[in-house]
Amino acid sequence: MTVKKRYEILKEKVVKRKQEFDEFIGMLEKESSWLDSPASTRFHLNKEGGLLEHSVGVAETLLKLRDVLAPQISEEACVIVGLLHDVGKIGMPGKPRYFKNHNEWEIKNRNMTYTINPGEVYMGIAARSLYLIAKYIPLSDSEAQALLYHDGQYIDSNREVVHKETPLTLLVQFADLWTAHILEEGKQIREDSDYYNKNT
Ligand SMILES: [Fe+2]
Ligand SMILES: [Fe+2]
Repeated sequence: MTVKKRYEILKEKVVKRKQEFDEFIGMLEKESSWLDSPASTRFHLNKEGGLLEHSVGVAETLLKLRDVLAPQISEEACVIVGLLHDVGKIGMPGKPRYFKNHNEWEIKNRNMTYTINPGEVYMGIAARSLYLIAKYIPLSDSEAQALLYHDGQYIDSNREVVHKETPLTLLVQFADLWTAHILEEGKQIREDSDYYNKNT
């Protein structure tokens, strides 16, 4: 199934806040780089549409985790948090964060297919995501925490949330890692014994 089709299926799961969600998505699709943006300059999915592909993947993984571990959490919350956790990567509406890199040396030697807009006003991606979403969609406290701290302890400043994570925050952190490192990189999942044999 195409990413676009998977994206449409996810959007249908937002019911209670459909009006606000649709307004935000409409703005993103028309006035921002949401549909074309890469997910990074030189790491995962640094290609056109990479951000959407990553976002759809994280939302789907989060929904799977929710089904098994926390069905009390609404699917709507999972879509809003999973699909939009990295929306800060668009930069701001009309001011994209990523530009195509034209430096052949950097593309060849550093795999740096995009560069960061030098004119952007810096803020962390997760903070920017929360800032953008909260202008349009009313969020629960747990959703706000999950968006702001979705990178977990990979980011030093996230130390402040340690031991205070809600279930949704823990689930999105893992969904993000699993999607980026296992699904997107296509790492094979082998039995533990294979790793053991290989490493000894
Ligand atoms: Fe992120
Ligand atoms: Fe992410």
